Order: sequence, then C-alpha cells, then structure tokens
Amino acid sequence: MGQLDDKTALVTGASTGIGLAIARRFAAEGATVYLTGRRQSALDAAVAQVGDRGIAVRGDVSDLGDLDRLFAEITDRSGRLDVVVANAGIGDYGLLGAITEKEYERTTSINLKGTVFTVQKALPLLTAGASVILLSSSSALRATPGLGVYAATKAAIRSLGRTWAAELADRGIRVNTLTPGPVETPGRGRAPRCHPAW
Ligand SMILES: NC(=O)c1ccc[n+]([C@@H]2O[C@H](COP(=O)([O-])OP(=O)(O)OC[C@H]3O[C@@H](n4cnc5c(N)ncnc54)[C@H](OP(=O)(O)O)[C@@H]3O)[C@@H](O)[C@H]2O)c1
Repeated sequence: MGQLDDKTALVTGASTGIGLAIARRFAAEGATVYLTGRRQSALDAAVAQVGDRGIAVRGDVSDLGDLDRLFAEITDRSGRLDVVVANAGIGDYGLLGAITEKEYERTTSINLKGTVFTVQKALPLLTAGASVILLSSSSALRATPGLGVYAATKAAIRSLGRTWAAELADRGIRVNTLTPGPVETPGRGRAPRCHPAW
C-alpha cells in the first residue's frame, strides 16, 4: 500500500530537478502523476523515470491557453485532482541597476503569474481534502544581491500560500508552501546568469 494509492497529482515543471523528484516519489507512493514542462524531450525522459503512472502534458505555466489545455486533459482522463504542486519556476540574476524588462517579465510571468493561474484553474478539479503545494525559496527570507526580482516572486508566493489556505479551508483544501535552500538541480546550472545561492 502506498500513501497516495488512487490519488491523482499534478506537478508543474516536473521534467527535471525538484519537480521530477516529487513526481517520482508520488508515483512510487501509488499516485497517477501529471508532469508538465515546456521541452517535450525532457518530459519524455522524465516520464521514463517516473514509470507507468506518469503522464506528460507539455505546456508553459505562464501561458493561460496552455493551462486550459492541461486542465482539459486532466478533466478528460482523471476528472479530479488530489494534489497540485505548483513547482515550475526559473531564477534570473540581476543586480538593481541592471535588471532588464525582459528578465523581469520572464521571472514574474513564470514564477508568479504561473503559480496564480495554475492553482486558480485547478480549483474546479480539487477534491475535498486536496493538497496544494507552492514552491518558494529561502532567498525570500534573506538578502541575496542579484536575486531581488526572483526573491520577490518567491516572497509573494509565501504570501499567496497564507491567503489561499484561509480562502480554501472551508473546502477542506490544505495549502502549504515549501521554502527550500539551495538544491543542486539542472536549473541552477542552466540559468545563464544564475547566482550560486539560488
Ligand atoms: N534548486 C534550488 O536551489 C531551488 C531553491 C529554492 C527554490 N527552488 C524552486 O524550486 C522550483 C524547481 O526548481 P529546480 O531547481 O528544480 O529547477 P529546474 O531543474 O530548472 O526545473 C524547473 C522545471 O520547471 C520547468 N519550467 C520552467 N519554466 C517553465 C514554464 N514556464 N512552464 C512550465 N514549466 C516550466 C522546467 O522545464 P522546461 O524548461 O522544459 O519548461 C523544469 O521541468 C522552482 O520554483 C525554483 O524556484 C529551487
């Protein structure tokens, strides 16, 4: 018996790193797991690791049309969600004075807008007793030069977690926010100007 037998979970940004580790563990515990990400090749490799309970749906969390397609597919195939992990996120590095509009929009669109609309669009599918898990970062709790915008999105996510926990309590839905410190993942190496403290 697994802890998640008969449960259905969504993990955004699950093709590598923390999201993939969560997806693998959830599947090992018996859940059907939907994995998202923008690169099909990385998703295919991830599903090969997750096994038969993994279902890949390619899409960008900052694109509301992609999110609509994702939840339409989950509705058709499973009709419910017991766990949502809004994990997809990126970290751009930019000291105040050198922050570009493009980097600002990229970071806020993926980390903040992506989290808000992932959870909002999941609401109709969430069962009583469902769990929503958000991904913050320890950079939200301390001053790390160059991570101002990234850390601000992660601080906002901690705030959203508190507010949504209160808003969803009457449906029996729990909302928790993970706040990891540095974790060695492909993402930390891939970001072109990523700070080692991310
Ligand atoms: N690693 C750390 O030290 C650390 C510390 C604290 C918090 N975190 C947070 O943990 C989360 C995961 O980070 P990670 O280190 O595991 O990074 P990672 O290895 O780069 O994984 C990020 C995942 O998100 C996907 N992704 C990125 N942008 C996306 C988008 N717009 N739409 C859908 N999927 C997207 C990536 O796939 P594609 O590129 O193919 O889309 C990948 O699957 C992030 O929210 C990050 O901020 C990480």
